[in-house]
Amino acid sequence: MIEVSVPLGKRAYSILIERGLLSHPHTWLASYYYQEWVVVTDENVAPLYLDAFVNHLTGKRVVTIVLPSGEQAKNIDHWLMVLNKMLQAKISRSGCLVALGGGVVGDLAGFAAACYHRGIDFIQIPTTLLAMVDSSVGGKTAVNHSLGKNMIGAFYQPKNVIIDLNVLSTLPSREYAAGLAEVVKYGLIWDEHFFELLEQKATMIQERCLDVLGRVIARCCEIKGEVVALDETDSNIRAILNFGHTFAHGIEVATNYQRYLHGEAVAIGMCMALELGVILEELPVSLLERTRHWLTTMSLPTSLDDDIDPQAVWNAMQWDKKKTSKGLRFVLLARLGKALVRDDVNVEIAKSVIY
Ligand SMILES: NC(=O)c1ccc[n+]([C@@H]2O[C@H](COP(=O)([O-])OP(=O)(O)OC[C@H]3O[C@@H](n4cnc5c(N)ncnc54)[C@H](O)[C@@H]3O)[C@@H](O)[C@H]2O)c1
Repeated sequence: MIEVSVPLGKRAYSILIERGLLSHPHTWLASYYYQEWVVVTDENVAPLYLDAFVNHLTGKRVVTIVLPSGEQAKNIDHWLMVLNKMLQAKISRSGCLVALGGGVVGDLAGFAAACYHRGIDFIQIPTTLLAMVDSSVGGKTAVNHSLGKNMIGAFYQPKNVIIDLNVLSTLPSREYAAGLAEVVKYGLIWDEHFFELLEQKATMIQERCLDVLGRVIARCCEIKGEVVALDETDSNIRAILNFGHTFAHGIEVATNYQRYLHGEAVAIGMCMALELGVILEELPVSLLERTRHWLTTMSLPTSLDDDIDPQAVWNAMQWDKKKTSKGLRFVLLARLGKALVRDDVNVEIAKSVIY
């Protein structure tokens, strides 16, 4: 088993990574003495993994809550539904909430845990690659509002993150690839050796070799933990985790969140940000080419589809919530493994990488 620590002082926790942690949870479950458990999941994950886990909670009071799947479900109504069910079941403050699913379940259930009785313990059991390497680590919880994504939420850290590599076997190919966009992001912004490892192991990663994935996921969690420990509430360096996301946000809004998965938009956005780095930071073109090659190998897009209006993307980017009074905030690379944040990028130069 691989164990990664997230060093957050009193809120520190560990991420456990291994095959079979859901179907054989004794190794980690034995350390918990909660008598009441609330397991929140979604309609796709429930038939695959809910029973396998809940069957191990014999003798405990267990409430299971199954949400519809997808981003649409990440709203205040479902958040309230979770709280209602917990109140109706008289779950006390000493119970534990488990988020079993992708980022949608993790974000919503985490926010419910943050609010229920002013905060109860919760454990993340991410089942998508994106949730394993990104959303389950770092304590950002939220639901969407009709006026914007993730607009209502809280910073609230889990007690543990439990990553069972076996669940990746049922993840649809597009979802798997979308998670890989966030994986390569960590190499680009933080660790050139990790980027090189991803290049060397590309075929095994594409074939979902779990031994390689265990190491890859662990390194992503380490990097995310390290960055979050430096800036838990996202006031400075944590912004580098948004590499490619300023463009991705515009792409997602301009296409009504219908065309691309988030990770796919991030893949295109990272290529645009790299191109901007070539223009502004003397980044070698070869790095852009290497990244494009890796993303393409993983079946991810690296440029906008021809029928998408670049102006619509640019317009949508103006509403980015990370925009400062100086202008749009871009995360660029000074070199492979070193990110920097700039909010002084010339508008025409920024536009040139979209058009
Ligand atoms: N909190 C954070 O720091 C953070 C970071 C990044 C993204 N996010 C959020 O994460 C969300 C996206 O998460 P996601 O990409 O995991 O999407 P998701 O939760 O919608 O899951 C994707 C799909 O895969 C299905 N699924 C999940 N696990 C499966 C498995 N093992 N086998 C088969 N199907 C499975 C789900 O039912 C869903 O249909 C967004 O709402 C985004 O805002 C949060």
